[in-house]
Amino acid sequence: MQVFDQVRDMQLQSLSWRAAGWRIALVPTMGNLHEGHLDLVREAARRADRVVVSVFVNPLQFDDAADFQRYPRTLNDDLAQLSKLNVAAVFAPGEQAMYPEGRETVTRVEVPQLTGELEGARRPGHFTGVATVVTKLFQVVLPEVALFGEKDYQQLLVVRKLVADLNLPLEIVGWPTRREADGLAMSSRNRLLGADERQRAPRLYAILQWVAEQVRSGQTHFTQLEAGAWEQLIAAGFEPEYITVRSAVDLRAAVVGEPLVVLGAARLGEVRLIDNLRI
Ligand code: PAF
Repeated sequence: MQVFDQVRDMQLQSLSWRAAGWRIALVPTMGNLHEGHLDLVREAARRADRVVVSVFVNPLQFDDAADFQRYPRTLNDDLAQLSKLNVAAVFAPGEQAMYPEGRETVTRVEVPQLTGELEGARRPGHFTGVATVVTKLFQVVLPEVALFGEKDYQQLLVVRKLVADLNLPLEIVGWPTRREADGLAMSSRNRLLGADERQRAPRLYAILQWVAEQVRSGQTHFTQLEAGAWEQLIAAGFEPEYITVRSAVDLRAAVVGEPLVVLGAARLGEVRLIDNLRI
């Protein structure tokens, strides 16, 4: 497994793989890898000849400096885990390599649709940061396929939209969320939870399941359902930010009979958790 921290070195390697006819898959991450990431890597290996995992805690997508500082950075552990899998290269640039002239002045990729609400409303600039870094990673690694977890459902739709709008020649694959035995969605932020918060955290998924069951059994007063779920989150000790049933295709208001998804975001102390469930 090769490890690159410079853009040009990674790009030259990818160009030579492409020239040799190899199909490249990219799994973009911010590191602190867990089984959910490793699922993506295993699936990438089924879909391509060369798997590249990027590890970069992208400052451009954090609207809160404290959150950026606190984000767990565990590159040595990440490399140890990846070296046991079928990974050809890890691209782990520093900020200087990704934004050599400073992140303030870098050209940005903006996706006007899909980004104004839910995560976008709570985290101003977040999706522009994600869209910008993901577009740069695609240009550096030159993948024919890139894999993203469905836990960040809105992010997945935003990336699909930018790839379609900019005619980028690659396929985007969304992969199901890996969960702990008690249902909590695996996330790098889970390790920031205190013992009591960790015990409460799976209630978020349980409440999403409750909403999904209600919808499946014919309850279509979505506003009423959302209010019920909100109350349950408060009772479980969360500070809810949103819990909402939407179109699974474009996150517009839910319409009975269409594919739906229920999405939630809530804080437990300092830690912000998000999760979703397709109905
Ligand atoms: O989902 C993430 O970990 C990040 O948003 C991503 C896609 C790696 C971009 O920094």
